[in-house]
Amino acid sequence: MAMITTVQQHILQQQQEQLKSSGREPSGTFSWLLSGITLAAKMVEAKIRSAGLSDVYGAFGAENVQGEQQQKLDVYANQALLHCLGLRDSVAALVSEEDEEPVTFNRDPETGKYIIIFDPLDGSSNIDVNVNVGTIFSVLRRMPLENGTLEESILQHGFRQVAAGYVVYGPSTVLVYTTGNGVHGFTLDPTIGAFVLSNERMKMPEHGSYYSVNEANAQGWPTEYRDYIEKLKSGGLGKEYSSRYIGSLVADFHRTLLKGGVFLYPPTLKQPKGKLRLLYEANPLAFIAEQAGGMATNGVSRVLDIKPEGIHQRTPFCVGSVREMMALAEVVGQ
Ligand code: AHG
Ligand code: MN
Ligand code: MN
Repeated sequence: MAMITTVQQHILQQQQEQLKSSGREPSGTFSWLLSGITLAAKMVEAKIRSAGLSDVYGAFGAENVQGEQQQKLDVYANQALLHCLGLRDSVAALVSEEDEEPVTFNRDPETGKYIIIFDPLDGSSNIDVNVNVGTIFSVLRRMPLENGTLEESILQHGFRQVAAGYVVYGPSTVLVYTTGNGVHGFTLDPTIGAFVLSNERMKMPEHGSYYSVNEANAQGWPTEYRDYIEKLKSGGLGKEYSSRYIGSLVADFHRTLLKGGVFLYPPTLKQPKGKLRLLYEANPLAFIAEQAGGMATNGVSRVLDIKPEGIHQRTPFCVGSVREMMALAEVVGQ
């Protein structure tokens, strides 16, 4: 029988390695927490696989805090995550794209040590056309009470994340995560219902051949972004590029992680601060990108250094290979 490593085993192995020097054993709290996320992901995956056969397509008939039409699967995925994670007593607060305010559990800081921030279903506009969608999550540790309130703990810089990851529901269902010790990919094996290690220590290529941006917004970008895309198109980086834009951030990011290149969501006329959200889209993917040897900025500065002011705060988001991101900094960063 081929040896398999599930994500639970991998998390514990990672923690054992990290704790070896201190002679301590992992408490299992974090892997228990992660099992809440993977359980919810399996529930969402099952719903998506049979979406056309049940009434899960289409709009839920309500708006979320973003003023966007909630899709039924947005609501289902959000409920699944809130349910699976709320049962873990190591959770102090849950922050979701779909909820205006954080869901807090008044657990004492010794027990409720973690804050989980998530986009339960990313790429909702693609559900009804059977295109990849995803789930994105970010984990912060609650600061000790003397250092700050729970609200202040939720608004920590992205570089304070203790873990981040995403699930992309596509031809296969893939989970990618980091705890700051490399980026690791798992594929859901439906025959055993487990995420099995399929890509350890993922590295983003230094130089890619794809750029990914919604060019319909080009007239509304700051001109430096148009200059940058023209530079890529005209071979200014010594390579030919192909354009790929799926419209689900997780899928566009996953391709960029595997193939390299650059993904951009610049400021637009409609969204002058950018469309993507800092806490549950940009920060977790920026953490993963950096851990895989890539870079992530808001066009000018490192995403992980941005001080969040609000849980639904938006930011321009540029992420990808070092070569493309250094060229971006030369054109846009000035
Ligand atoms: P969500 O479905 O969680 O609201 O996210 C949608 C986001 C992101 O997935 C994607 O990159 C972006 O919206 C696409 O926006 P445009 O359709 O404006 O290009
Ligand atoms: Mn999203
Ligand atoms: Mn979403």
